[in-house]
Amino acid sequence: MSASPQAGPSSKGQAGADPYSIPLEKIDVADSELFETDTHWGYFERLRKEDPVHYCAESEFGPYWSVTKFDDIVTVEKNPEIYSSARSIVVGDPDPRFPLEAGFITMDGPRHDAHRKAVQPALSPRNLKRLEPLIRERVTEILDGLPVGETFDWVDRVSIELTTGMLATLFDFPYEERRRLTFWSDMATASPEMVGATTATSEEREAALRECLAFFTELKEKREGEAPGERLDFVRLIANDADMRNLSPLEYLGTLILLIVGGNDTTRNSISGGVVALNEYPAEYQKLRDDPGVIPNMVSEIIRWQTPLAHMRRTATRDTELAGKRIEAGDKVVMWYVSGNRDETAIERANEFWIDRPNAKRHLSFGWGVHFCVGSRLAEMQLRILWEEILARFREVEVVGTPERVRSNFVKGFHRLPVRVHARS
Ligand code: HEM
Repeated sequence: MSASPQAGPSSKGQAGADPYSIPLEKIDVADSELFETDTHWGYFERLRKEDPVHYCAESEFGPYWSVTKFDDIVTVEKNPEIYSSARSIVVGDPDPRFPLEAGFITMDGPRHDAHRKAVQPALSPRNLKRLEPLIRERVTEILDGLPVGETFDWVDRVSIELTTGMLATLFDFPYEERRRLTFWSDMATASPEMVGATTATSEEREAALRECLAFFTELKEKREGEAPGERLDFVRLIANDADMRNLSPLEYLGTLILLIVGGNDTTRNSISGGVVALNEYPAEYQKLRDDPGVIPNMVSEIIRWQTPLAHMRRTATRDTELAGKRIEAGDKVVMWYVSGNRDETAIERANEFWIDRPNAKRHLSFGWGVHFCVGSRLAEMQLRILWEEILARFREVEVVGTPERVRSNFVKGFHRLPVRVHARS
C-alpha cells in the first residue's frame, strides 16, 4: 500500500453520499475520509438501525466487524478472554516493517494488569491533587498570553500547549523540549496501515520513533535507582519497577507511546471539541455562563460528544456469537465508541450536546472494563481547570472559521480551529 502523504488511500466515494444509497454490505465506516469530512454520522445511524453488528468484507484494512450499539460494545469490553487486545487495538494490523507494540493496552491477562499497576500511581487521585496547582498555573499562563480580539489557532495555542505541558510533567521531561512529545505522538498515530492516516511515510515514522526511544532510554538510565519525588512520574516508576525495568527496547517504546498518545491526542481534541460544541449550541454556552457550577458535568458531556478516540478493536480468540451474528476465531471486531455514544436506545437525546445532562459520565469515550482509561481523571481535571479559567477571563471563545478535521478513523479531532476570544465586559 502506498504510504505517500499526498496520495493516501483513494476516496471510496462514501463521503458526501447519501448513507442510505449505498448497499448495506458495501458500507465501510473505517474509511478515514468520513472522519475528515465529518460525514460518518449517517452511516453509523444506519448501521445502528439496520445492522448493528455489521460485517465489512472489503476494506483497506481487510475484513472487519463493526459493533455500533452501546450495549453490544459493553458486551465486547466485558469479555476480554473472547475479545483479545493482543494483536492490535486499531482496525489495521501493525506495519510489518516496524511492528510496534502499543504497551499494555495491547496485552491481555496478568501481564496487562501488572504493567497497568506499575504506572497507575502517577495518575492516582493523590498525585493528581499534587499536580492541580501546576496545571492551573500553566493554564493561566497560556490563557493570559492569548491575543484578545484577534484570530488565532486554538489547537496550537491552547489544546496542544496545555496537553503537551502536562505530559512533560508526567514524564519529568525537559519542559522547553515538550513539543518533541507532540511530534512523537503525532508520528506514532500517523500510520496509514493501521488507521488510514496519511500525514507521514513509514520511514519518517520509524525515524521519529527511534529518536523517541533513544531519548527515553537515556532518561530511564538516569532515573534508575532514584526514589520517586514529591510528584510521581512515569519514567521513574518504570525504571524502578521489578517487572517493567527489563522491558525490551521495543516494549519500552510501546509503553512510552501508549502513555504519550494516551494523554496527548485525546485530551487535546476534547479541549478543541468543547469549543466547537459550545459554538454549535449557543444556548448551552449561555447556560455555562449563567452557572459555572455545571463545569464538571459539562466536561463529561464534552468527552462523550467529542469521543476523541473513534474506536478500539479486539480480535476474537474463538468462534462466538454477538447480537445474533456468528463471529469466527481471528476476526477483527471494531467497537465504534463514536457510534455507541450516539445510540438513542442507551442515551437520552444522544445527538444533542447537553451540558447539564443527567448521568453524563455514562459514556464510552474512556472505554469500559479492564482497559478503561487509566488517565480519565487527569483528562477530566485538565478540562475542568481550563473551563474554570476560561470563564474567569472570557465572555466567549468564538469559532470564526471552518475547523479542519484529522483524516483518521482512530483519532477523532482537529488540526486547526480558528477562533477569537472576547474579554468579559
Ligand atoms: C479525554 C481524554 C481521554 C480519552 C477519551 C481516552 C480514551 C481511552 C480509551 C478509549 C482507552 C481504551 C479503553 C478500552 O479499551 O476499554 C484508553 C486507555 C488508556 N488511556 Fe486514555 N484517554 C484519555 C486520556 C488519557 C490520559 C490523560 C492518559 C494519561 C497519560 C491516558 C492513558 C491511557 C492508558 C495508559 C490506557 C491503557 C489502559 C489499559 O489498557 O489498561 N488516557 N483511553
